[in-house]
Amino acid sequence: MIKLENVYKAFGGQQVLDGLSFDVAEGESLVIMGPSGAGKSVILKHIIGLLQADDGLVDVIGNNMSTINSAKLQDLRRDMGYLFQHSALINWLSVYDNIALPLRETTDLSKSEINERVMEVLELVYMQDARQKFPSEISGGMQKRVGLARALCTRPKLLLYDEPEAGLDPEMSGEISRMIRRLKEELGVTSVTVTHSVNCALTIGDTLAVFEHGKLLLSGPPPEVLNSDHQRVREFLCAPID
Ligand SMILES: Nc1ncnc2c1ncn2[C@@H]1O[C@H](COP(=O)(O)OP(=O)(O)O)[C@@H](O)[C@H]1O
Ligand SMILES: [Mg+2]
Repeated sequence: MIKLENVYKAFGGQQVLDGLSFDVAEGESLVIMGPSGAGKSVILKHIIGLLQADDGLVDVIGNNMSTINSAKLQDLRRDMGYLFQHSALINWLSVYDNIALPLRETTDLSKSEINERVMEVLELVYMQDARQKFPSEISGGMQKRVGLARALCTRPKLLLYDEPEAGLDPEMSGEISRMIRRLKEELGVTSVTVTHSVNCALTIGDTLAVFEHGKLLLSGPPPEVLNSDHQRVREFLCAPID
């Protein structure tokens, strides 16, 4: 479903992706961990098509992201949902309207079809009772769930999560991770998640990849990677969290 092959990307003199390669199969959940500033969000932006590789192949659902035209990219983006680090909800719109917005803007669904979709995703994240509330009236965890519902409303095949646990306490972070896991199991979506949370990686990931200096240091089933004797991986994963 996603294939990166020898991908290079530099900003100014800084080589952020340095021959990065990985694959994500249909239905697979890949979790990427790595130091802050290493380029994890940059990886996700290459998959969404917000950034283009300097060299190498980025293939998403059969599309070469270096040569894709803008009409195709627009179609492809409808198959992708993303949850940003900060939920990025619109403050002056209700929970309901925040979710309905992408449907109103990118589809020609009727009002009643939109209503059906919004209620369906609100139910998936247990937020149907809060639909008339505004973002400032709900907790951070609930805002994340609304962000998740919004990412799901176009029924994407591929979901990208950028630090879904950011800004949440451990309990809420666990709740969001379990919800992401459940969505994978119930909807069968393929996903790539960037996280700093080992618990989140264990809950969500089929595969855990550790990324540093522009490439993967190690990847495999999360328990295997967490117990590996790769020295740098151990240092990074066992470092005290601040
Ligand atoms: N559009 C951009 N222009 C210039 N530099 C960028 C851009 N996007 C990211 N960078 C740089 O790339 C590096 C990796 O950023 P990022 O992917 O956000 O790191 P993280 O692993 O914390 O998500 C940072 O040094 C950042 O400043
Ligand atoms: Mg980031």
